[in-house]
Amino acid sequence: MTNTPIDLRAALAGFDQLWSPRIVTRVNDYDVRVAKVAGEHVWHAHDDTDEFFLVIEGELSIALRDGVSGERAVTLPQGSVFVVPRGVEHRPSSALGASILLFEPTGTSSVGDRHEEIPGHVDATTGHPLA
Ligand code: NI
Repeated sequence: MTNTPIDLRAALAGFDQLWSPRIVTRVNDYDVRVAKVAGEHVWHAHDDTDEFFLVIEGELSIALRDGVSGERAVTLPQGSVFVVPRGVEHRPSSALGASILLFEPTGTSSVGDRHEEIPGHVDATTGHPLA
C-alpha cells in the first residue's frame, strides 16, 4: 500500500471523527486500521473473523458476551492487546477517550455482521483511506 514509513501519531492527528477507522496499511489480506474512540460503540459480532485491538493511547474497555454467565468486560490500558474471537458479541467503549489500532481482514465492517441499532456517533464502515 505504501513504501514509506507511517507515523501513527501523525496519522491519528489527521482526523477527528470518532469510531471511524482509517486504513494505514495492509498486510496480505488484512487491514491495519487506527481509530479514535470515546463513549460507547454498539454491541456487534463478526461471524467469520477474530478482531485484534491494540491500545495506542488512553484506555479501552470491551464488554463481551462470551460465557454462560452473561456479560463481562476487559480493560485494556495503553500498550495492551486483545483479540475478540469470531462470533463473540462485543461492545468497545472508552470513558475518557482512546486511540486504538485494529487488525482484521480487508472488508470487515466496523459494526460486524450482526449489530444493534447504530446511533449517529458510530460510523458503519469497512475503513476509510488515510487523508
Ligand atoms: Ni468489532
